Amino acid sequence: MDPQRESLTGFGAGKVILLGEHSVVYGHPALAGPLSYGVTARGVSSKRCQLALPGTLSRAQKALLTGAFQRAANLCGTPGVKVTMESELPLSMGLGSSAALSVACSRVLLKAAGRKDAPAEVAKLALEMEQEFHGTPSGVDHTTSAEQQLILYKRLPNQSSGRARAVKSPRPLKVLVALVGQRSPTKKTVAALRERQARWPARYGRLFQQIGTVATEGAKAVEAGDLEGLGDAMNVNQGLLAALGLSSPPLEQMVYQLRGLGALGAKLTGAGGDGGAVIGLFLEPEPAVAKLLKLGVRCFSSQLAGPRAL
Ligand code: PMV
Repeated sequence: MDPQRESLTGFGAGKVILLGEHSVVYGHPALAGPLSYGVTARGVSSKRCQLALPGTLSRAQKALLTGAFQRAANLCGTPGVKVTMESELPLSMGLGSSAALSVACSRVLLKAAGRKDAPAEVAKLALEMEQEFHGTPSGVDHTTSAEQQLILYKRLPNQSSGRARAVKSPRPLKVLVALVGQRSPTKKTVAALRERQARWPARYGRLFQQIGTVATEGAKAVEAGDLEGLGDAMNVNQGLLAALGLSSPPLEQMVYQLRGLGALGAKLTGAGGDGGAVIGLFLEPEPAVAKLLKLGVRCFSSQLAGPRAL
């Protein structure tokens, strides 16, 4: 085997949006960070450039994944590599599983092609795959995964890419992630919101603007080590997401449960809707994780930023 191809592994982190989902689609800033869980891709030398898929997937899922893989592979000159994937993330719950897969895969393809897997290169390739999965995402998911650090992200007009600035936290940022019910695909929730926004642009525009301001304030709070300030920004953001029609009783109930367990702030993360992921910012999330697990809630903790984040 070519020595350059000896260790063909690539990791793509899942992500949480701390502040600014949905309004990020309309060009406002969002604060997002990588989870310590994600997708690992492994490549072995092969005659063909191919993605090995588990037999448990449906025909449609296989076609989607193969199509996305081919798009990225073509941009790398289809190197001779067979790629397998392993995921630690729940699918379609707002934790960026498709972006993590795209990033992991892109890292392996770049390495197999003898190219550097610098974040900007990875993001470019991962975007090709994300477009196959989601059409026109804001780009916050795959950019956070490729950058592997807390970022304040702003989409460029009408593009699925944008500008990301690293947000350094002097303190560890720890979240509890709880999974609640089932939810609709992101595409559907984003499209329904777009219809409301098109009908009442001034009202919805004001809410998006407010969320963008809260995201910028939250990033400043992080940099100042003001976790209470960040928590308050998350609580306000949750109220604005509810005003946009993106929350639901199961999500609200978990938000209040996390606040009751001592969260500095709690909100839905990702597209929201009938279910999905809820995050709580904790100084120490483990006691709350233990309590919720006992109650049968699917949850885990992760550090997003600060020393030993990934
Ligand atoms: O797919 P999710 O649930 O991680 O949501 C992505 C975030 C949105 O702002 C709702 C959509 C986007 O493209 O940014």
